[in-house]
Amino acid sequence: MYGGSNPPGTSKSSCKGLFFIFTISIMADNYLEKRMEQYRSNSGAASNSKSKEGLLYLLAKNRSMRGYDASYIVRPDQLRRIIGVNCKLASARNRQVLRFRPVIADEAHKVLPFIRMGAGLKEFHLPIQGTEPNAFIIVCSTIEPRNSTFVDLGISAQSMLLQAVEMGLNGLCIMDFDGDKLVDSLQLPYKPVLVIAIGKGAEDIKLVDIKEGDDHSYYRKDGVHYVPKVVVEDLIIK
Ligand SMILES: Cc1cc2nc3c(=O)[nH]c(=O)nc-3n(C[C@H](O)[C@H](O)[C@H](O)COP(=O)(O)O)c2cc1C
Repeated sequence: MYGGSNPPGTSKSSCKGLFFIFTISIMADNYLEKRMEQYRSNSGAASNSKSKEGLLYLLAKNRSMRGYDASYIVRPDQLRRIIGVNCKLASARNRQVLRFRPVIADEAHKVLPFIRMGAGLKEFHLPIQGTEPNAFIIVCSTIEPRNSTFVDLGISAQSMLLQAVEMGLNGLCIMDFDGDKLVDSLQLPYKPVLVIAIGKGAEDIKLVDIKEGDDHSYYRKDGVHYVPKVVVEDLIIK
């Protein structure tokens, strides 16, 4: 028998690890049960849309910002926390091929010339001078990107943006970038697949309900940026 020692193949620290995992799963179960109870009694559904911690609230605040408060300098620990969400995400075959290069203010000049914002609003020449983001996360892939890489990428990008919103920040996914120039300027070991700008948003953005066949283009009027979103009835395939 094992007596007072640990079972074969387990050290004290790995036992502690198992206990930690066990504790987390128990906590998670309680959380889910509690949420289901609240949802059943309808208060969960109501609080989810109104509560400031609810997912719908975070999603509504998670707008694509193309103008930032230049006096707010994003710190390395904030980018690290945002990147940290990736340790909890789904990934095709759990390969976890994405890598993240944080860029803060002193290096922002190595990114800004190689990204383009607001192609749908050429007349505004975004970002407006003085409102450029000063922090970025350059997402790279360790492999030649395939379909599953882009699914991983979407999960990662949205999770990081939601974490940013939870911290009072905003962001923008940027796929319109010059990858080779970014590799050179930042000495990246991998090809970038997405640039995410992070900062304190300084734009007034509103969502507008539209039908499936309406114009999807975002637009600006009287200083407000409007983003049309197709209503749920038209998203569901009947
Ligand atoms: C994969 C992806 C790539 C994008 N690339 C750019 C880009 O290169 N430049 C830009 O200004 N916006 C870019 N956007 C932001 C979209 O234009 C934005 O999501 C859309 O206008 C809807 O606005 P919303 O994010 O506030 O809902 C991108 C968004 C996604 C999801």
